[in-house]
Amino acid sequence: MRTVYVNGDYLPENEATVSIFDRGFLMADGVYEVTSVLGGKLIDFAGHMARLERSLAELDMPKPAAFDELPEIHRELVRANGVGDGLVYLQITRGSDGDRDFVFPDAETTEPTLVLFTQSKPGLADNPAARTGLKVISIDDLRWGRRDIKTVQLLYPSMGKMMAKAAGADDAWMIEDGLVTEGTSNNAYIVKGNTIITRHLGTEILHGITRAAVLRFAAEAQMQVEERAFTLEEAKAADEAFVTSASAFVMPVVEIDGTAVGAGTPGPVATRLRDIYIEESRRAAV
Ligand code: PDD
Repeated sequence: MRTVYVNGDYLPENEATVSIFDRGFLMADGVYEVTSVLGGKLIDFAGHMARLERSLAELDMPKPAAFDELPEIHRELVRANGVGDGLVYLQITRGSDGDRDFVFPDAETTEPTLVLFTQSKPGLADNPAARTGLKVISIDDLRWGRRDIKTVQLLYPSMGKMMAKAAGADDAWMIEDGLVTEGTSNNAYIVKGNTIITRHLGTEILHGITRAAVLRFAAEAQMQVEERAFTLEEAKAADEAFVTSASAFVMPVVEIDGTAVGAGTPGPVATRLRDIYIEESRRAAV
């Protein structure tokens, strides 16, 4: 039984409740963050908190009163649940003023809902999938236009995962106007020669915290980086492909729509970036 956090209280998971009128539940009016934990410490924590603040601001969603206590709340949940390796999930919604209405409730009188829980994932950094690589399919990107805001509107990404599963693959890369946007829950990259190519930031993709760190490490390791959109055909013809996210770190992609990428095995660039990312992140963990 996990200890979870809801609106100021640490409770057993089966005692934590949120109103049926909560706008997170009725309208997907909420934002979230997923921070990984390695060796009991938080990875890229400052980045996740900065993006959370930005997501709230973009949606005119008030910060919960406990916003400044988020570092302590994360640490307390990791401690209380004995998480060595795993994740902390955080969600903030616009709360509820006790009824359903398209109009936002009065921010002065309606406290946002704040929920956090942990997911224990022993051996998170030693995921065997990193040795075999992922198979992805391509699907149309049917999400809304503000993918830079990390909202809990995850129905389409979830459907994308199911489409991938039905096709015998691990994940889906989404395509818009012939160009790859991102994976269902990760940023997408290809490698051509000595150059790492990943979509530029904009409203079309989530500004991955892992992406920012990986691009910084790539530059420090003298690798070439091009931030631009790429086509599916370019990806299939690339030397390597990979994805990044807080939960997967750097994960090689070895097949796209049944076509082997490069040698069809995890490539040296993805493998090296994964090693660097995990090592450097462990060092900087808090
Ligand atoms: N997903 N793009 C999308 C659409 C995502 O959902 C995520 C993260 C990323 C990678 O962002 P970051 O490196 O900050 O984790 C990119 C999280 C892990 C999730 O939904 O579980």
